[in-house]
Amino acid sequence: MGRLEKLPPYLFSAIDAAKAKARAAGVEVVDLGVGDPDLPTPQALIEVMCEAVRNPANHCYPAQKGDAALKQAIAAWLQKRHGVTVDPVSQVLVLIGSKEGLGHLPLSCVEEGDNTLVPDLGYPVYGQATILAGGEPRTFALRPELNFLPDLAELEGLMDDHTRLLFLNYPNNPTGATAEADFWRPVIDLCTRRGVTMVNDAAYMEVTLDGSRPLSMLKVADFANEPVMELHSLSKMFNMTGWRIAFAAGNAEAVGRLGRVKESMDSGVFTAVQDTAAYALGEAFEGLLDSVVRAYPERRKVMVDALTKAGIEVFPTVATFYVWCRVPGAESAADFCSRALDEVGLVVTPGTGFGAGGEGWFRISLTASDEDIAEGARRIASWK
Ligand SMILES: Cc1ncc(COP(=O)(O)O)c(C=O)c1O
Repeated sequence: MGRLEKLPPYLFSAIDAAKAKARAAGVEVVDLGVGDPDLPTPQALIEVMCEAVRNPANHCYPAQKGDAALKQAIAAWLQKRHGVTVDPVSQVLVLIGSKEGLGHLPLSCVEEGDNTLVPDLGYPVYGQATILAGGEPRTFALRPELNFLPDLAELEGLMDDHTRLLFLNYPNNPTGATAEADFWRPVIDLCTRRGVTMVNDAAYMEVTLDGSRPLSMLKVADFANEPVMELHSLSKMFNMTGWRIAFAAGNAEAVGRLGRVKESMDSGVFTAVQDTAAYALGEAFEGLLDSVVRAYPERRKVMVDALTKAGIEVFPTVATFYVWCRVPGAESAADFCSRALDEVGLVVTPGTGFGAGGEGWFRISLTASDEDIAEGARRIASWK
């Protein structure tokens, strides 16, 4: 079988089709499915971008692995925000969004016959990118009993001499689970012992609902010597999903290998976007972040209140803009979500969109307008 044929079907296209059908039939759909912020990029960043676009120096090919000024700004931000010291030249790589970095990562270290460990529940790109590189994704479970953290013994049991990568994602999509130092340290030890590169996809790290500052995995690792990297993205931090900018930081060898793949694949991020990112991570960072994430606590409260009234169990968290909910009764996640669309015009995502481990769960995204959140909550509360 060819690599493309091995890719699993994309569940979200089925949801999109059902949504379009409902809309065509005149249903006023409330879409709480996708995790794409409804609010615009902060105005200050748009101003910086407009200025940067006018600069002819920015019209040429960008610095492929990231502009020196941005890499400096990233290093300074990691230091100030997370207490992590990196060398901006060898330990930082600018990405065209974290999806691009995740997509290319297996090409940097996976050969035919190699495998990677991917979470089930997880962002589908980890496994898909592994398949496209000719490798085999091996899934490990994230279970509610362990607060959606993996079981170390299961991870070790899946590893062999051909295991190249372990993908983790904390704060987690879709569950909102978070990981602390007592989780990271033994996982890093295991990967170091087995020569497996561990990547933490930290796309949601800055989206916290109580102002707390989450732990960067890099703070726990000795990444000069240990094979780990973390991917941070400006997409959700600053409502910039369309801008395409993120970065990898960590072990120089691992980051360098990814950079070598990118040299053959792309020509970097538009320098005007990189200039804007450098500004965003600088002095203005805290104010900008607050202006973005302040939308979510009240939305979550409105939604969780309605779910609780409806007798639906919610996984408690202050991380990410997702609400991870248990399907009531014995109905499958897919049936429950399709009934939600048919009966109350509500789009929510079945947990099975993130792997078989999502059976019995569904995800609500808080990235819709306050009005849509309130309307969605009303529909849930009154749904019989
Ligand atoms: C877990 C996770 N990782 C990565 C991404 C990709 O983010 P980016 O916009 O940085 O490519 C997403 C996007 O939804 C995601 O949910």
